[in-house]
Amino acid sequence: MKCRKRGRSRSKQRIMKQRIEELLGRVEGFSSRAAGEIEDFRIRMLGKKGEVTALLEEFRTVAPELKRELGQRLNELKTRAMERVNELKAGAESSGMESAATGDMTRPGEGTAQPVASRHPISLTRNEIVGIFERLGFTVADGPEIEDDRHVFGALNFPPEHPARDMQDTFFVERHPDVLLRTHTSSIQVRVMETTQPPIRVVCPGRVFRNEAISYRAHCIFHQVEGLYIDEGVSFADMKQTLLHFAREMFGAETKIRLRPSYFPFTEPSAEMDVSCNLCGGKGCPVCKGTGWLEIMGCGMVDPNVLNACGIDADKYTGFAFGMGVERIAMLKYGVGDLRLYFENDVRFLNQFSAAI
Ligand code: DAH
Repeated sequence: MKCRKRGRSRSKQRIMKQRIEELLGRVEGFSSRAAGEIEDFRIRMLGKKGEVTALLEEFRTVAPELKRELGQRLNELKTRAMERVNELKAGAESSGMESAATGDMTRPGEGTAQPVASRHPISLTRNEIVGIFERLGFTVADGPEIEDDRHVFGALNFPPEHPARDMQDTFFVERHPDVLLRTHTSSIQVRVMETTQPPIRVVCPGRVFRNEAISYRAHCIFHQVEGLYIDEGVSFADMKQTLLHFAREMFGAETKIRLRPSYFPFTEPSAEMDVSCNLCGGKGCPVCKGTGWLEIMGCGMVDPNVLNACGIDADKYTGFAFGMGVERIAMLKYGVGDLRLYFENDVRFLNQFSAAI
């Protein structure tokens, strides 16, 4: 009697062993990224009426002397099944594959929010400058950084002996005297005029290159925004009003401007434009060197020679142009006195602009 009972228990043990191995195989083989499917699998295995749960129940009836080995393997099965479900659940959540039908939309978000990167202060300033002119109806034009003599100098009325054409100021490509890095974004206005007839209203943001020793106030790479407005009857007064509007938008409604006579080969007459110092309100401080004024751009009426060189009838059309340094404006806007900071990409510096967009 005893012997027969033990024989029955042994065969039961063998069947359970097979069942455990089979279930282990199914646990390892199961895969899904859908949260609903994973939960169904958990219920089928570990739920109240699950297959693993049923085996655990059955285990209680196994003869005590046969329990040890079977019990160990059964525990392994239970642990693996739980681990597998958790692994798959984590994968489904992080891959965002949970469908709206099965995911709990009211569940609180997990972990902390992803940190958002910040824009570079030069990009912020350039976007702001461009935005002001876009709202006035200007469009944006782009051009190559590697240019030729005609677009950077020739068509802009630079005489052959002009010092800007010197190797000291301009980066030339070795053995190619006609290939150079643009020293100003005025080259883009030449490209626009060559391909478009007036009315023209464009701003041209871009990177420029000059052969300068790097210091707190000079760099061999910097950024400019160029502007060009050509139509019939465009006057110096139009230029003044446009630039006054720009200055007020950029530096505040109280800002004043003043134009000082200057010289550029591509404009006649030419001027430098100053804005009233926004730090001291025009009273005089170290930033404006006690003058109450800050120089921010060059401007002028496009020289007829330039219009003619670019295929625009100078008898019919007139226009104005202006050009400003983005670093200079950013410096005045953010109070950053050392140009090199804009190029070092030190996150301690850049993170300070994370609130801006
Ligand atoms: N290209 C000049 C520079 O790099 C800036 C400039 C001055 C642009 C006057 C203009 C202008 O269009 O009219 O210094």
